[in-house]
Amino acid sequence: MEKKKLWWKDGIIYQIYPRSFQDSNADGIGDLTGIIKSLDYIKDLGVDAIWLSPIYPSPDKDFGYDVADYLTIDPKFGHLQDFDQLIAEAHKRDLHIIMDLVLNHTSDQHRWFVESRKSVDNPYHDWYLWRDPAPNGGPPNNWLSSFGGPGWEYDRYLNKYYFHMFEKHQPDLNWRNPELRAMLMKVFRYWLDKGVDGFRLDVFNAYFKDEQMRDNPRKKGLARRPFEAYDHIYDISQPEMMEVVKEIRAILNEYPDRYVVGETFLEGPVYARTLVGEDKFHAAFDFSFAQSPWNAKAFGKAIQYWDALHGDEAWPNYFLNNHDLPRSATRYTQNEDDSRLKLLATMLLTVRGTPFIYYGEEIGMRDIKVARKNIQDPVGKRYWPFYKGRDGCRSPMQWDANINAGFSTADPWLPVHPNYSVRNVANQQSSPASLLNFYKDLIQVRKKHRSLQAGKMVLIPSDNKHLLVYLRHLEEETSLVVLNFSSDIQHFELPIDEVNEWDMVFNGNDAMTSHMSGTGISLPAYGMAILVSRLAI
Ligand code: NOJ
Repeated sequence: MEKKKLWWKDGIIYQIYPRSFQDSNADGIGDLTGIIKSLDYIKDLGVDAIWLSPIYPSPDKDFGYDVADYLTIDPKFGHLQDFDQLIAEAHKRDLHIIMDLVLNHTSDQHRWFVESRKSVDNPYHDWYLWRDPAPNGGPPNNWLSSFGGPGWEYDRYLNKYYFHMFEKHQPDLNWRNPELRAMLMKVFRYWLDKGVDGFRLDVFNAYFKDEQMRDNPRKKGLARRPFEAYDHIYDISQPEMMEVVKEIRAILNEYPDRYVVGETFLEGPVYARTLVGEDKFHAAFDFSFAQSPWNAKAFGKAIQYWDALHGDEAWPNYFLNNHDLPRSATRYTQNEDDSRLKLLATMLLTVRGTPFIYYGEEIGMRDIKVARKNIQDPVGKRYWPFYKGRDGCRSPMQWDANINAGFSTADPWLPVHPNYSVRNVANQQSSPASLLNFYKDLIQVRKKHRSLQAGKMVLIPSDNKHLLVYLRHLEEETSLVVLNFSSDIQHFELPIDEVNEWDMVFNGNDAMTSHMSGTGISLPAYGMAILVSRLAI
């Protein structure tokens, strides 16, 4: 019996950083009309959903992650009508829309915060985390901002401090306040009623803080920066979170086929998994896979662990890129060669779980280098030159060889990568061996063979440390994936049994493809092979 298909489970999610995708009104910033114009491209790639990084009004201290109004669209991206049109046009193409909700904090320009700091009697005052100074006049406790510096900002007028986990312009909300909490639940309903298919929740496990606001204990040993010198047992992951997770899921369940994925902050895979389940989130992000070193064993270990944690009751997810990480093309390659990226794509799109692709990953975009004076990201400004921030992975989408890579006719808000005249969508569309065509072919193979979408996964131990090998089983179909992480040819002997007859269904898209002879597969440098067998019935 064919199980019910769920778009978020069988499908692929494509993340767009709207500022950098496609500018339709020549202001150097991407917008909703630009996204609408690109929907055919996105559909043609073969993905099923789009996650939009925040598009709400924002003073852009943290580029959209400082929200000044949850219920509308920033004019630089368009208007509510454009958003309605985006939903309609996306749905017409059977593409789903996931919004990014940033509910741990707002912008300090949000009306609620402006009210909140007017007086302690203001009805909004308690919507944020205000505390009296310590007896010495200093901050109320030792909590720090994850963006660097103190977590508390002093307000002279109120003679109080407010807490901010991120930039000082991003005050944290007080989730213990019932009115605030009810209002945030309305935000979910508002967008669900508009037809939004799901949400990505920014740092959801930071919503609650210890009620007594106790000091975080110091960790033993050295830390790269003060924030990492503490055990964050009181400023994140408080048990009260669980009730909210369930409340959010209950709201989503009132609507058909909706999805919510939480971004887990500072925690590992075990914690992330505790937030996923029938009455909790559909998925939570964990960064282990994306941060794996380049070798078959390390990736295999991350996958096996994440898969086992989910078991049969939950559905994992995988990503290699997002707007906070250096691009995988930059991390794992030194030049313009894409063979390693094809291997990564094969792994991402064939392991058991929902794959996330970050815009431009499909054409192998590399990080840009930004001169100090042009750095936009607040984290880069603070930590340069030790850490140059996240601008690198947020550069404009490279559409074609025209000015500004076809992203905008105006100067873009971040520079276009200098490789754009060669590395762009138009070029890759017309080159059969390109990374873009590789993604498209592979996605079609994935769609054709349901075991690759929905099957259980079994990792096959291999004596060859360069190979990552796994099976995917669904009913009578089994697929076998063999990935060569080395720069040399590798061989793999097929597991023999009398019922399996393997067909090679994918072996790459350029001159150097994997091939089978008898029961052996020979894989070129960074080569891959996907084989499928059916039980004769
Ligand atoms: C996580 C987001 O992914 C990141 O971009 C942002 O800076 C912080 N949360 C704060 O919202």
